[in-house]
Amino acid sequence: MKASSLALLAGLLTVGMQPALADETEDLARSCNSCHGFNGVSVGPNMPSIGGLSEAYLKNVMLQWKRGERYSATMGRHFKGYSDEELSKLATYFSKLPWVPVVQQADAKLLAHGKAATERCETCHGATGSEPDDADTPKMNGQWAQYLELELLKYRTDAVNMPHRKMRNNVKRMAAEDLPAAAAFYAAQPK
Ligand code: HEC
Ligand code: HEC
Repeated sequence: MKASSLALLAGLLTVGMQPALADETEDLARSCNSCHGFNGVSVGPNMPSIGGLSEAYLKNVMLQWKRGERYSATMGRHFKGYSDEELSKLATYFSKLPWVPVVQQADAKLLAHGKAATERCETCHGATGSEPDDADTPKMNGQWAQYLELELLKYRTDAVNMPHRKMRNNVKRMAAEDLPAAAAFYAAQPK
């Protein structure tokens, strides 16, 4: 390939990104693909999609993990080796990618149950989980159901350190059988 086409190709690949962010942060972000999928769109089922979540939420979660303030199966250890600045850049990088819902079909009865069980949640998450009321709240439409159910279980369990008190209280008020229904409901929403 001619040098000019190479330059053009490099230009295309970095379109829309600040060069500094593109180089180092893209390298770091590539290490997330093996679990979170290409461009942060996970192939599931217990691995969450992270591309297109808000910058504030991503940053908050990763910093809490690094500082040991939030329970995690794997991610806490993972982030110990990153500087706060690197985490901040990773948050910016993933927040700029589009949110791609992975729509998962489910039984109509389960979905109706889920819709009813999540009525209280609308004020913060929107009717389908796609319209968070602030930057600290993650999108959930087309997020993986198995992952969402696990998260709900964590918020509900006192021994599991999840610092967001309002979420804890909300989930504790759900019946056990509401958890899989709510998770399936959000996972089935295209938008
Ligand atoms: C070995 C697999 C693995 C790798 C590599 C990995 N993650 Fe994760 N990640 C997980 C799992 C599993 C979860 C679900 C929470 C948990 O169990 O810790 C998760 C959850 C997350 C979440 C929370 C998503 C949400 O909706 O709350 C964020 C943010 C995240 N990871 C960011 C990253 C970033 C950024 C990288 C790369 C620097 C990365 N992860 C690399 C496995 C991985
Ligand atoms: C007061 C606002 C508020 C209400 C009401 C609320 N949530 Fe949340 N929700 C949040 C915030 C903020 C977060 C992020 C918390 C954190 O950082 O751990 C969250 C996180 C979540 C997550 C984790 C998503 C992920 O990607 O890890 C799930 C699942 C969830 N909420 C479901 C629900 C359900 C179901 C209800 C109703 C029973 C509900 N929420 C009610 C604000 C709210």
